Amino acid sequence: MDIKDIEKLYLHRQSCRSFDPARPVSDELLREVCRLALLAPSACNSQPWKLLAVTGEKAKQLAAGVQDLGMNKFASDAPAFIVVLEGTGNLTATVGSRFKNTDFLHNDIGIMTAHLVLAAEAAGLVTCILGWRSEEKLRKILLLPEKTRIPHIIAIGYASEGYETREKKRKPMEDTFVLLK
Ligand SMILES: Cc1cc2nc3c(=O)[nH]c(=O)nc-3n(C[C@H](O)[C@H](O)[C@H](O)COP(=O)(O)O)c2cc1C
Repeated sequence: MDIKDIEKLYLHRQSCRSFDPARPVSDELLREVCRLALLAPSACNSQPWKLLAVTGEKAKQLAAGVQDLGMNKFASDAPAFIVVLEGTGNLTATVGSRFKNTDFLHNDIGIMTAHLVLAAEAAGLVTCILGWRSEEKLRKILLLPEKTRIPHIIAIGYASEGYETREKKRKPMEDTFVLLK
């Protein structure tokens, strides 16, 4: 593999807000994308997460859990969602977090999510990470216990016809990167 291939993947991955509602994602492909995401690193290898892939009627219901104040209307067209559930870190990671005053758990979840959206992109799918959500609504729809935390969910599917790759808008690298010797 070449770094140019990785660049292509990173530039092509973007938050999709235009899904093809008529094109479902197979269970096998959802499973494969999740399998790759779960290879992500985590502090003390604690893997403090669980992924819940949702399709069909349940996915249609789920869109309501990410839509209020006019946000995320496009989610109604997503044929599937991957719900990221907070798990428990292992003892070493939990103690390490306290000692080092660092939120390892949410860092880990973010890293795993990055793996997931890039794996999905490589599989020809499109995604949108949705942080604007109602955990309460999502828990009700998914019949999850009240204490379950849902840091975000990911809309996943195929892009609608005519969907184009946007140019990346990022802060200038001079503002976000320093090389020290
Ligand atoms: C944690 C997180 C939460 C996000 N929540 C939403 C959301 O609720 N709705 C949405 O349309 N985009 C959401 N996004 C997508 C960002 O707006 C997007 O990643 C950013 O603008 C950069 O654009 P790009 O992903 O197309 O490169 C979220 C992204 C992240 C990482």
